[in-house]
Amino acid sequence: MPQIIHERPEDAALIEPLLDECFGPERFTKTAYKIRENIHSLPELSFVIRDGDKLVATIRYWPITIGDMSPALLLGPIAVEPTLQGQGLGISLIRQSLQIAIELGHKIIVLVGDPEYYGQFGFDAASPKGLQLPGPVEDRRFLVKECEQGALRNVSGVIAGGSMPDMTAGRNADLSETEQLITRLAAFAPPA
Ligand SMILES: CC(C)(COP(=O)(O)OP(=O)(O)OC[C@H]1O[C@@H](n2cnc3c(N)ncnc32)[C@H](O)[C@@H]1OP(=O)(O)O)[C@@H](O)C(=O)NCCC(=O)NCCS
Repeated sequence: MPQIIHERPEDAALIEPLLDECFGPERFTKTAYKIRENIHSLPELSFVIRDGDKLVATIRYWPITIGDMSPALLLGPIAVEPTLQGQGLGISLIRQSLQIAIELGHKIIVLVGDPEYYGQFGFDAASPKGLQLPGPVEDRRFLVKECEQGALRNVSGVIAGGSMPDMTAGRNADLSETEQLITRLAAFAPPA
């Protein structure tokens, strides 16, 4: 019986082959990967599905900022072992992890994925709301979910990888915090 559990350190070696199988090696060139390049996924929001000894699914969330000011999460990748796809594992993994993200106080979640799938979880187009990615992606696949009504009010700009450690989720940085953040985020700037 497949079970959702928190990702453990030993799962990492099994997650990579699953991602290779689902997305292929070219996944590393994608914009979402570039954003995640120098940051760590959040352990409290990283889950796997185990079926006995086998790891059959993975989901991770990453700390990001929008417009250098607003903390948010980047969801992905999510992958389900091909032979087990279409049995509800993906939906369970997303529902349960989203619920925990919301309980932890996260207000905004972005992802790159098919709107036909993610619409059911409350994601819709991010570009019309003023959000931008730092690299190419099919516009219709850039999605955002407001976990609380109005969370995107006064929030716009480019997504960058990196957390705001001194900030609680949902609070905007003040001027001096923003300056510190810009300096720190320079490390994450996409190549010219
Ligand atoms: C996308 C993925 C995570 C979904 O997980 P899953 O366990 O297969 O999905 P579920 O069983 O929970 O949901 C199945 C339903 O979602 C639909 N669905 C799955 N992927 C979809 C997609 N990309 N677009 C639209 N609908 C999709 C299925 O058609 C099915 O619909 P139905 O119940 O009406 O038949 C999984 O198929 C997967 O790992 N795919 C390869 C990697 C990938 O594309 N990841 C997402 C990148 S954003």
